[in-house]
Order: sequence, then structure tokens, then C-alpha cells
Amino acid sequence: MSAPPQDTRLGASIAEVLFSAEAIASKVSQMGAALAAHYEGKRPLVVGILNGCFPFIADLVRAMDIELEVDFMSVSSYGAGTKSTGVVRFIKDLEEPIEGRHVLLVEDIIDTGLTLRYLTEALYTRKPASIEVCALLDKQQARTQNIEVQWRGFVCPDAFVVGYGLDYAGRYRNLPYVGVLDPSVYTKG
Ligand code: PRP
Repeated sequence: MSAPPQDTRLGASIAEVLFSAEAIASKVSQMGAALAAHYEGKRPLVVGILNGCFPFIADLVRAMDIELEVDFMSVSSYGAGTKSTGVVRFIKDLEEPIEGRHVLLVEDIIDTGLTLRYLTEALYTRKPASIEVCALLDKQQARTQNIEVQWRGFVCPDAFVVGYGLDYAGRYRNLPYVGVLDPSVYTKG
């Protein structure tokens, strides 16, 4: 953990840096190498769950020196902005069938686990050879679902984190590190 760069425009809204750009780069490189060894010869379909996955999946696949394909899905919760039902709507589905394919779902963060539980249940009906989950951050304390996470970068404290894809009201996804948002940002009238 280190102090945020307060002299940057976005850094001024960050209370503390949890995972620096350097720590993330090192972790992603290790994960990519391990995934490449695991999936060698299987030509996995690496599926990013939009929107928050974009920096992570971009770095991760470049750290995987094997043949693979990349696709994206976008899902949205049903209901009045609550994830409590765990029912999600597919905004963007996969481009191709996944029957017989090895699928790796890539998430920036797992919180309750509802999104992934629903997604994996829906995708298993398409008869893939395997589905595994890779998340940069795992907020284990917030978990309500019993889901398996085969590949995790960091265990994340139950704090309001932003950066490296994670947003607050659509902002801060472009921070190069993961930090805790300063409460003054969301308590402002
Ligand atoms: C985040 C994250 C996961 C989900 C995890 O996405 O990217 O998809 O929440 O939460 P859960 O484990 O409680 O289901 P979000 O809905 O914030 O959308 P975004 O990726 O566009 O920011």
C-alpha cells in the first residue's frame, strides 16, 4: 500500500492506493504465464465481461503466449438497479457457439458473485468443454454465492474501489492503479 499521487487530477479523489500499477503489472504477467501453461494446445475462448474488464483483459491476453480467441459479453441487472435477484439480461452475447470450447471468463472484480453465477449457469447450457473464472480482484467478504474462482489476482478489502477498469458513476476507469475512492467524492451534494 502506498500514498496516492495527489498531484494528479484523478489522484486527488483517491484516499489510498491499494494495488499500484507496478503491482498489477507483475501480477497480471504471472497470471498470464500460468494461464498460458494451463491452456496450451486448447485454444481457449477468453471472454471479457464488460465494461470493467477492458484494461485487465487487454493486459492479460498479451501475457498469454498461446493461441487463443477473445470475445466479450455485456450484462445488466434486471430490476431497479439492484443485483439482489441475481437475474441479469444479456446486452451483448458471444459471437460464436461455445460447444466443446474451453471458456475463460475474465472479470475486473467479483463482489457478491451473482453476476458470475448467473453467467456460468447460462453458458453451461451451451455445452462448453470447460468454464473457468479469472478475476483481478476478489472481494471475498461480500460474497453471497458459492462460486468457484480458479484464477484470482488479489483479495480486495470491502471498500469502494476504483481504477484499472473499476468505476464510480462511469468515472475513474482510466486510473492506472486500484485505489479507494475518497468519500468526499460521493458525499458531495
Ligand atoms: C461489476 C464487475 C462484475 C460485477 C461483480 O460490474 O465487473 O461484473 O460488478 O459484482 P457481483 O459479484 O456482485 O455480481 P458492474 O455491474 O459494476 O458493471 P461494469 O463492469 O460496467 O462497471
